[in-house]
Amino acid sequence: MNNKKIALVTGGSQGIGLATVELFAKNGYGVVIADIKQEQAENVAKRLKSDGYDAFAVGCDVSKEEDVKSMMECIMKVFGRLDVAVNNAGIHQTPHINIIDMPVEQYRSLTDINLMGIWSCMKHEIPLMLKSNDCAIVNVSSVGGVVGTAGESVYTATKHGILGLTKATALEYAKEGVRINAVCPGAIYTPMGDTLLSSAPGLEEALQNMIPAGRLGQAEEIAEAIYWLASPQASYVVGHSLIVDGGMTV
Ligand SMILES: NC(=O)c1ccc[n+]([C@@H]2O[C@H](COP(=O)([O-])OP(=O)(O)OC[C@H]3O[C@@H](n4cnc5c(N)ncnc54)[C@H](O)[C@@H]3O)[C@@H](O)[C@H]2O)c1
Repeated sequence: MNNKKIALVTGGSQGIGLATVELFAKNGYGVVIADIKQEQAENVAKRLKSDGYDAFAVGCDVSKEEDVKSMMECIMKVFGRLDVAVNNAGIHQTPHINIIDMPVEQYRSLTDINLMGIWSCMKHEIPLMLKSNDCAIVNVSSVGGVVGTAGESVYTATKHGILGLTKATALEYAKEGVRINAVCPGAIYTPMGDTLLSSAPGLEEALQNMIPAGRLGQAEEIAEAIYWLASPQASYVVGHSLIVDGGMTV
């Protein structure tokens, strides 16, 4: 078995996922960049490898359990272990749409990717982790996991659901060396964040005025919270939802 710890990040080819991949790589982890955008994930892995890091890309649609299963088989084949999983892949409800106007297909893709994707990833990650006894999972929810936003009903439901899945699953495996927690980012500059900001003129300024920190956050600030939750420094943190939002929901 490889001695190096291995961290998987879903949706790892851009935004919060990419910042997380880079942070784990810089801290000595072998990183697995999993993304539905396979070519983009491969480019990230290539760049990290040329900088001397241990990186591996895998194409995976987290809403398909078969994809998730074969990703785990692939990780075991390449690295023989999994120590950290950051279940970050997700989609937003942009542009905003009220419930009476939402087609069922959009409801299904939001729940399949954001909620079932996390369920499916944890279902197949945990059996690999039970072998090493000192592992961590961080699920990426949102401030939408703790408060509602008009026009984001289903996104909000999925992000609340992630916190429920996190708490109950954390209890199932707390005694078996797998710590499971969640992070709830506020408004963050990423490709997803930028799409939302450009869909609603004036939103960026309104958020800046509303957020106590006076600004939106950077992906690296979320990556730091994820890294801490997954680290031995957070060894007694179990089933927690860490809000990182510049005070937005305070
Ligand atoms: N940016 C924000 O303001 C913000 C705020 C709160 C929560 N979040 C959450 O953080 C996470 C990352 O967001 P981001 O802003 O970096 O988004 P992003 O859109 O920039 O990146 C998301 C990544 O997930 C990948 N992805 C999407 N669907 C996938 C699927 N079915 N299978 C595998 N990969 C898939 C995308 O290809 C992309 O690389 C999401 O879960 C999002 O809901 C973001």
